[in-house]
Amino acid sequence: MKISIVGAGYVGLATGVGFASMGNSVICVDSDGAKVEKLKQGVLPIYEPMLGEHLQKVLEKGYFKATTNLSSAVRDSDIIFICVGTPSKPDGTIDLNFIEQASKDIGDALKDSGNQPVVVVKSTVVPGATEGVVVPIIERHSGKKAGADFGVCMNPEFLREGNALSDFFNPDRVVIGELDQRSGDVLERLYHDFKCPILRTSIKTAEMIKYASNAFLATKISFINEIGNICKRLGIDVYEVAKGIGLDKRISPYFLNAGIGFGGSCFPKDVRALIAIAKKIGYEPKLLESVINLNETQPLRLLELLKKHMPDVRGKKIGVLGLTFKPETDDIREAPSIKIVRELLKQGAVVKAYDPKAMDGFKKIFPKVKYCSAEEVLESDAVLILTEWDEFKKLDYLGKIVIDGRKIDEAKSARVYEGVCW
Ligand code: UGA
Repeated sequence: MKISIVGAGYVGLATGVGFASMGNSVICVDSDGAKVEKLKQGVLPIYEPMLGEHLQKVLEKGYFKATTNLSSAVRDSDIIFICVGTPSKPDGTIDLNFIEQASKDIGDALKDSGNQPVVVVKSTVVPGATEGVVVPIIERHSGKKAGADFGVCMNPEFLREGNALSDFFNPDRVVIGELDQRSGDVLERLYHDFKCPILRTSIKTAEMIKYASNAFLATKISFINEIGNICKRLGIDVYEVAKGIGLDKRISPYFLNAGIGFGGSCFPKDVRALIAIAKKIGYEPKLLESVINLNETQPLRLLELLKKHMPDVRGKKIGVLGLTFKPETDDIREAPSIKIVRELLKQGAVVKAYDPKAMDGFKKIFPKVKYCSAEEVLESDAVLILTEWDEFKKLDYLGKIVIDGRKIDEAKSARVYEGVCW
């Protein structure tokens, strides 16, 4: 099938490279000329395992192209995926500016075209946005009718950073929210070879499934962190408790890793957006608010534990291992490390940090931190582990003070070892 992808961010690239690897003809559109040039050379603008190798293969085969020219890309497509960002506004609601712009551009491009593509929203948008914002803008700009002259679907994305391609090829399910049956049929054909359940729903339902999935996973993490905070006071290892409860099929063992909380571009933003929608329609989402509140304070618990061993950090060298919100990515958006480092600097500590992928990005927010190797970080007065990168398991922690936010068991050889919830 001929596919165009509007937005070469993390979701757009994983989706584009994934479908191209399956033999589809994909053209990825982005307004950032420098990014497009990089993609044409086979260079990824982000760090994501396996994605770069796959990009080079599909470029060589001619299955993947990149362009800044949206109009020429979408006029010839069977399916147009909208994969632009939907960032948070200060009040928690999402900013639909990029979605609106993409819809206008797609509408303009379809105006004089005989093509009848299916426009698929993959960006995370609040229930009602596809039908209330995307469809009317495309109709207005193209002069055409949704459901008659072009199709519309909402197809939420469930892949994780650091696992994007393997999640793309092995999804647990595909959700197709459809405006009409023809639109859904076209999109279902694209997913024909995937061996997982395909769920067809209304557009609004598909939009809600995305928010409910992320909100549930975030709730699971805040839940186990709360149990972990109680366990810590009782001298119980929450990871053994998680194993015990996770064997119950109704609970499942996944997403029960207690620690310093969730970060990234999705969970915090999506839970806040769901809270904002609920409030707007007169519902007080108390559970979701607690999930966020607990997550706000969880990173700082690490510093409370540090205080037990070092009452005043002023002038002390505090080493930080790991800056990304999770391993196998260079993404530091909403990473717990940001809160922790900000607080350490505020209290007058000298912060030394190492991360295999994110030091350049972090430097832009915290130029005062001393960036160095993992071994140099270990020479600090105390060391905090903030991301569970595999390489941290191989370090020599003998004789150190280590406060662990991510359960690196190898660090238990330290002179003083404290886990945040164990
Ligand atoms: C998340 C979802 O898992 C994806 O299904 C979804 O598609 C994506 O958001 C999105 O909406 O785009 P992602 O943010 O890439 O994916 O990463 P996760 O692996 O879910 O981790 C998120 C955060 O939760 C990380 O900070 C991680 O350290 C934390 N986490 C995760 C825990 O603290 N404990 C766990 O047991 C699992």
